[in-house]
Amino acid sequence: MQNRTLLASAVLAMATLASAPATAQDNKFKIGLILPMTGQQATTGRQIEAAARLYMAQNGDTVAGKKIELIVKDDTSVPDVTKRLAQEMVVNDKVNVLAGFGITPSALATAPIATQSKTPQVVMAAATSSITEASPYIVRTSFTLPQAAVALADWAPKNGIKKVVTLVSDYGPGIDAEKYFKERLTFNGGQVTEALRVPLRNPDFAPFLQKVRDLKPDALFVFVPSGAGAAVMKQFLERGMDKAGIKLIGTGDVTDDDQLNDMGDGALGVVTSHHYSTAHPSPLNKKFVEAFGKANKGMRPNFMAVGGYDGMRVIYEALKATKGNGGGDALLAAMKGQIFESPRGPMFIDAQTRDVVQNIYLRKVEKKDGQLYNVEFDVIKDVKDPGKAK
Ligand code: DHB
Repeated sequence: MQNRTLLASAVLAMATLASAPATAQDNKFKIGLILPMTGQQATTGRQIEAAARLYMAQNGDTVAGKKIELIVKDDTSVPDVTKRLAQEMVVNDKVNVLAGFGITPSALATAPIATQSKTPQVVMAAATSSITEASPYIVRTSFTLPQAAVALADWAPKNGIKKVVTLVSDYGPGIDAEKYFKERLTFNGGQVTEALRVPLRNPDFAPFLQKVRDLKPDALFVFVPSGAGAAVMKQFLERGMDKAGIKLIGTGDVTDDDQLNDMGDGALGVVTSHHYSTAHPSPLNKKFVEAFGKANKGMRPNFMAVGGYDGMRVIYEALKATKGNGGGDALLAAMKGQIFESPRGPMFIDAQTRDVVQNIYLRKVEKKDGQLYNVEFDVIKDVKDPGKAK
């Protein structure tokens, strides 16, 4: 009798032991945040990690009874590394959501893992139109290049810019920017006289800019990824392109708020189109910028930060809506259709495309209180990704 009791309690103890880690696991909700923290795209990682941590500090780390755990890994923006990290996070860490993705090739490399494991993949940075089509588990909170580029191609010919040379980084988002800017400008009676592409890795803009100077267009349209804008601006000014009467225009990546203030007065007057400016004049954004700066030694949030912040919002709200009980499919369903006010302005996640719909602003670099800002002067409301219609 005593033996049987002993045995029974031993079995019970074993069962408890075996279930203990599972219970701990069940009470956790893991977000695998994969970002470039080093290398050419390091500012993207720094901005998004800071924004994600701010969101957690403001909204708590317990949601629907689950303890949120943020696991941050550096993919150095090498897609094979992104993919390996995503696989490890799904298999070993058993993350509930994959998030981050600083550049398009990293987002695309992870898509099959999201699909196979039915894990929502929240793209907070990468902005090539087609990304959301690479997996039904992808949701995007950044923007798309067609979204931004088309607005500028509508503005330019109405403002004396008819002949344009385009200069883009030679990969997904650059090719999107080039294509959609050109199509729309041509439709509006303008002309792209030359389309130049520079390598993504270690670009040397000098020979391209020399060519632009010789071509003498009304404007040079530029897309380079976040972090590369300052180099373009510097060389553009060094070559006296502005004095030769060539205007610099582009998507807001080129006057990235992370770098803008160090670009100098030569950047004054540059017109860009984008979804977020640090100077966006809403009370919510003012609070965001202030809190972000306070938590990060005065750092300005840029468009990457807002993609990360809103991505966390989408994850938190999905977890709330599913009451902490949902798997990947339920979480994904709760991400679709979310509509809310972001520091960028109103936005929503289109339930059909899982892509972001948002305002696109035309902005001009101006000086305020001794600092350079992208000051919004016009808005196109509720812009869907034009790439999805094709
Ligand atoms: C991408 C990266 C960027 O830094 C950016 O500003 C826009 C797009 C990308 O790789 O998709």
